Amino acid sequence: MKKSFFALATAVVLIFATGYSQKFEGLALTPPMGWNSWNKFGCDVNEQMIRGIADGMAASGMKDAGYQYIVIDDCWHGGRDSLGFIYPDSSRFPSGMKALADYIHSKGLKFGIYSCAGEKTCGGRPGSRGHEYQDALTYAKWGVDYLKYDWCNNAGLSSVGAYTTMRDALHAAGRPVVFSLCEWGDTKSWEWAKDVGHLWRTTGDITACFDCELKHDTWSQWGVMRIVEMRKDIRKYAGPGHWNDPDMLEVGNGMSANEDHAHFSLWCMMAAPLIAGNDLRSMDKATVDILTNREVIGIDQDSLGVQGYRYDVKDSIEVWVKPLVKGDWAVCFLNRSSADRKLDFDWSKSIISDDLSKRVLNTNESPYKIRDLWVKKNIGDTKKKLSAEIGTHNVLMLRLTAAQ
Ligand code: GLA
Repeated sequence: MKKSFFALATAVVLIFATGYSQKFEGLALTPPMGWNSWNKFGCDVNEQMIRGIADGMAASGMKDAGYQYIVIDDCWHGGRDSLGFIYPDSSRFPSGMKALADYIHSKGLKFGIYSCAGEKTCGGRPGSRGHEYQDALTYAKWGVDYLKYDWCNNAGLSSVGAYTTMRDALHAAGRPVVFSLCEWGDTKSWEWAKDVGHLWRTTGDITACFDCELKHDTWSQWGVMRIVEMRKDIRKYAGPGHWNDPDMLEVGNGMSANEDHAHFSLWCMMAAPLIAGNDLRSMDKATVDILTNREVIGIDQDSLGVQGYRYDVKDSIEVWVKPLVKGDWAVCFLNRSSADRKLDFDWSKSIISDDLSKRVLNTNESPYKIRDLWVKKNIGDTKKKLSAEIGTHNVLMLRLTAAQ
């Protein structure tokens, strides 16, 4: 009896002394919001640009709208010192990462960085394989708040093992870090990563087009709609603290205004992380207006945390729905065709029942008031049919609130 008590006590003490490994809870109760360098700048990153981006995030109103993380993607790395510690490229980051993190923090923002589970990153820089605990310690020292962790050159590693090792390393280093998995859905991270990270990429890389495939030698980049089509039936894996990540935003990177609206709206309907990927130092007003529309962002950040889904398609118009807190619903009509389309939607004939959230939208039982989230106007209620003109590749995005 005494012996087993001591064994148990020793085990408990050991667990606490060595740091019981888990992901940091409570860091992403709603999908993370921020900015990442890759979509616009690729490998061309440096401290002056990143500082400018932080300034832009604050000055444009994005910070006030909820964006927090400034994440430097691939190619910041210099090398490893004689003890194996990573250091940044000194020509691109002459002041060092700690100074950059301090600057970002001084703006009330958070600092993110990128590494890879393989020996080398996708851009051929030093990866974290075999250096996970060392790298996590270095990141903690620099003040890193977010880590995107890639999957290139993985040499057949077990993804569960590799990502869990980094999770444990971050936890052991002691500084709370949002852990963003980037294995592109190759090993179905949504099935196993809930306790490993806060978000996981579900597809290969996005590119700034509505519906194209951009072929490279051995891989492709995908337009917005290709990404949307790529994974079915995974919405049940998303929820507060753990999100499906269909890749970073391409708003402001060259699609049409309609397409930028549609892309942003769909990401919000899918409760996707909102990680802007454009140059925040030089945005036109249209781009700022999209990225900072709080009512649309409110759909993404809704605390119920249920990922929306495509309920119906008719004549190239898709109907997306997302249950929200307090009985509200978001409804987004997307015109996928290359011509403008007229929408006639009879609420009374569409009883929408969501098996996942167990919520039912039945306007015959109780009518809802309707708000147009892009025009920012109340447009009546569900008692009468909805008629609208939706431009090519554009959306009509609504919030329905029970009419008392
Ligand atoms: C992969 C990722 C991208 C980006 C690049 C960097 O392709 O999926 O998001 O991080 O690597 O090299």
